[in-house]
Amino acid sequence: MAIISPSILSADFVNLERDMGVLKSAGAPWAHVDVMDGIFVPNITIGIPVVAALRKVTDLVLDVHLMIDRPIRYVADFCKAGADYLTVHLEADTPENIHKTLKMIRESGMKAGLSLKPGTPAEAAAPFLEECDMILVMTVEPGFGGQKFMADMMPKLVWLREHLNEVNPGCLLQVDGGVDRTTAPVCKQAGAQVLVSGSAFFKAEDKAAFVKEVQA
Ligand code: DX5
Ligand code: ZN
Repeated sequence: MAIISPSILSADFVNLERDMGVLKSAGAPWAHVDVMDGIFVPNITIGIPVVAALRKVTDLVLDVHLMIDRPIRYVADFCKAGADYLTVHLEADTPENIHKTLKMIRESGMKAGLSLKPGTPAEAAAPFLEECDMILVMTVEPGFGGQKFMADMMPKLVWLREHLNEVNPGCLLQVDGGVDRTTAPVCKQAGAQVLVSGSAFFKAEDKAAFVKEVQA
C-alpha cells in the first residue's frame, strides 16, 4: 500500500490547525510541509516556527520538504521544531555538503530525504543512495502548487527503485507535483511509495475516498 502525504501548501493558512484535522480525519498518515526561501525557488512560504506549531497540534508524520539554499544551516532547527522526515535538494549545495547534511539529519534522529528537480538525472543521486531514508522525485518544477504533472519523470523512479533495491531496499521513493486520481496510479506503477498531493487533495469533495484511492 502507498502512503499519501497531503501538501499543506494548498491548505487555508488562517486555519492550519483545522486543516491538519482535515488530513487526519481523511485518513492521511503524513503531512507534507513545503518550505521555500525565495532563493532556491522563486517563492517564499513557511518555516521553522510553523513546523513547531504544527507539531503541537498533530501526531501525523511531518514530512518537511526544504526548497532552500544550503539547508545544512537549518537541520538542527527543524529537528527541534519536530520534523520527522527532512528532505533537502541535491541541487541546493555542493555534493560534499549534501553528504554532510544527510548525515547530520540522521544523526539528529530524523529521517533523511533527498530531492531531485526535474532537470537533475537519477544518476546524480547514485553517490547518496545509502545515506537516505527517502528519495523525492519532483514531477513539477519546485516552487508552486497546482502545476501540471510531468509524466516523463517516471523512468527516473524506475531507475532509482532498481538501484535502491541493490544498496538500500528500505529507502522510500516519493513523488511530488501534480499528483491526482489520474496520475497517482502512473506513479505507483513506476515504483513510488509516498505520494504528495496538494491541490488535488484539498479540492477533493470526499477526501477520505481520495486518500483511499491514492493509497490503494
Ligand atoms: C511544489 C511543492 C509541492 C506542491 C504540490 O514546489 O513541493 O509539494 O505543494 O502541489 P500540487 O499537488 O498541487 O502539485
Ligand atoms: Zn513539496
